[in-house]
Amino acid sequence: MKYLVANWKMNSVDLDLWEKKFLKVIDSEKDFPKSHEVKLIVCLNLYDYQLFSKKIQSSKNQIFQNIILYAQDVSRYEEGAHTGQISSHYLKNIGLEGSIVGHSELRENGDTENIVFQKGLKLKEQGLSNIFCIGEDLATLESSEKKSFLLNQLEAFCKKDVEPNLLAYEPIWAIGTGIEADSENIKSSVSIINDFLEQKKINTSILYGGSVSVENIHEIISIPGIEGCLVGNSSLDGEQFAIIASKITG
Ligand code: 13P
Repeated sequence: MKYLVANWKMNSVDLDLWEKKFLKVIDSEKDFPKSHEVKLIVCLNLYDYQLFSKKIQSSKNQIFQNIILYAQDVSRYEEGAHTGQISSHYLKNIGLEGSIVGHSELRENGDTENIVFQKGLKLKEQGLSNIFCIGEDLATLESSEKKSFLLNQLEAFCKKDVEPNLLAYEPIWAIGTGIEADSENIKSSVSIINDFLEQKKINTSILYGGSVSVENIHEIISIPGIEGCLVGNSSLDGEQFAIIASKITG
C-alpha cells in the first residue's frame, strides 16, 4: 500500500473545480491505481471538510468516494478555555479520521516536541490516526546534525504507546521552496528513521514531503523506503494531485 496525502494548509480551494479536474484525470487514466493500492488522504480545514465530505459521500466515482479526510491540527487539550482550538473528541464526532501533528509550520508557531507528543496522545485516546511530521532545517543539515535532530524528534514522540501511524519526512528547507530534497539526502533520512523504527519495533510507512510535483514524483517514489508523499502546493489543483497519484504504483 502506498499513500498520497494532500495538505491544503490555509489555502482556498474551489472544491467543485478540484473534483472536476481530479475526475477528468481518473476518467482518462485507465491504469489509475486502485484504492487498495494507493490510499488518498486530504487534510483540510473544518469548513471545507463539511462541504467536501458531502461531495465524497454523494460521488458516484469509487476512487473519489474513497478519499479519506484528516484535519491539519488538533488541540493537546481535552476541552475548556482554549480559544480557537479543536479537540480530538470533536474531530472524531464530526467524522474526521485523523490529523497531521508536528508539521514544521506549527512547530514554528510554538509546538514543542512535548506539545506534538500530547497532540499525538489526544488523537490516540479517540482512536484517530496521526501523520507525524519531522524534518530538519537548512542550518541543521549544513552543520551535519541531521541525525541527532531527527532522532530527538522521533524519541520525543514515540513513547507511552504513541507512535506514528504515518511518518512524513519533510525537510523544512524543501517545503514550499520548489527545491525538493535530493535522493541521497532522502535515502540517508530514511535509513536513520528505519533504524529507529526497527529498534522500537514500530511498523509504519515513511512518506516524503517538500516541493513534490508532477515532475519529480516518479523519482521520489522510486527511492527505496519511501511509501508515499505529503503534498502541499501541488495538491491544491485536483488535476495535478490526480496526476501525481497516477504515478504512484501500489
Ligand atoms: P509543498 O509541497 O508546498 O512544499 O508543502 C509540503 C508540505 O508542507 C506538506 O505538508
